[in-house]
Amino acid sequence: SARPDLVVVGSGFFGLTVAERVASQLDKRVLVLDRRDHIGGNAYSEPEPETGIEIHRYGAHLFHTSNERVWQYVNQFTEFTKYQHKVYSIYAGKTYSLPINLATICQYFDKSFSPSEARALVAEQAGEIDTAEAQNLEEKAISLIGRPLYEAFIRGYTKKQWQTDPTELPAAVIARLPVRYTFDNRYFNDTYEGLPVGGYTAWLQEMADHPNIEVRLSTDWFDVRDQLPADVPTVFTGPIDKYFGYEAGALGWRTLDFETEVLPIGDFQGTSVMNYADEDVPFTRIHEFRHFHPERDYPADRTVVVREYSRFAETGDEPYYPINTPEDRAKLERYRELAKQEAAEKRVLFGGRLGTYKYLDMHMAIGSALSMFDNRIRPFFDEGGSLD
Ligand code: FDA
Repeated sequence: SARPDLVVVGSGFFGLTVAERVASQLDKRVLVLDRRDHIGGNAYSEPEPETGIEIHRYGAHLFHTSNERVWQYVNQFTEFTKYQHKVYSIYAGKTYSLPINLATICQYFDKSFSPSEARALVAEQAGEIDTAEAQNLEEKAISLIGRPLYEAFIRGYTKKQWQTDPTELPAAVIARLPVRYTFDNRYFNDTYEGLPVGGYTAWLQEMADHPNIEVRLSTDWFDVRDQLPADVPTVFTGPIDKYFGYEAGALGWRTLDFETEVLPIGDFQGTSVMNYADEDVPFTRIHEFRHFHPERDYPADRTVVVREYSRFAETGDEPYYPINTPEDRAKLERYRELAKQEAAEKRVLFGGRLGTYKYLDMHMAIGSALSMFDNRIRPFFDEGGSLD
């Protein structure tokens, strides 16, 4: 095939947004490589073979944004359903509404509270510890929402997420713990929210469907880099530490394990996500994927549930959430310096969640790719020069 004008490493939302813009707006040829055997990065979804229910292989993905430009952009490729995300939690044999809101407080304390009564109660309980003095995650959480709500909804869940007692976790792991003094339990408060009508993979394929874009799957860039033209500019969305041969050390991540099961019943939990806050339940939550698409014609006698377990990532595990210890941040500083040099000398740009070691929601990955296109890539192709 003809020489590409740009190589994009990774076909997740970041890589595909860059590829789509360069192909459609600059009429340049883009070669997209992905080491996996499918497109789409972690947003990839597929029908569970027995039931046809769409499941998200790398964890549940809910689209939401308040960014007007991103919303306009994504609507070129897919329509969105009216799905509004809600989450519930089971603790000590009772089911509660999340995020912590007036319903949660009334249920937990088994009493009706007005907004101001609930506010006064939480303020009094949170007064036990001064936020500025909090020495660890537990103290910080108690200083924000008080001990009872912390023990019910935060302690066990956080301990399972981090495999670490909250008294051993840094206070900085949580910035805020918002409590809503209304009965509003919509999980996201963005202007736009919904799920792609035809599923995530159809959306991602639509982005890649351009005569100027060639996608090569099951192709690891590290294996083929020597065969690519040396001076072709590259957007790299793989792990930045791996790119630099772990020169400053490996960055820390948490990973998730998913256990998928088809059950011979029409409905397991009546909602898409149930958190399990008890310490002695080993998983953190259960997703029941049929509830993401109530508008679809799914089987009435079978359902798919996925139990989610959280742990530290080891070599070979999928990196999901950056841990971001002070050591990680020091390593990242060094990799950022190296990345700057690489942009100047070798025309390589780093982007996306792995390329920047940042948790990015989908709308953030897309927004950040659009900015890279505007600020770095378009000027490079229009005016020449380096990419930095
Ligand atoms: P992404 O990881 O998707 O893509 C990177 C690609 O690069 C991968 O396909 C990988 O195979 C490829 N690659 C890496 N190294 C390579 C190499 N050497 N050669 C070739 N290819 C290589 N967001 C949201 O908005 N709502 C949500 O509900 C969720 N939920 C969610 C749950 C979980 C468990 C996680 C971990 C994440 C989310 N997200 C989310 C975030 C969402 O997954 C994220 O925004 C996108 O994956 C970011 O896209 P990227 O393209 O940056 O990375």
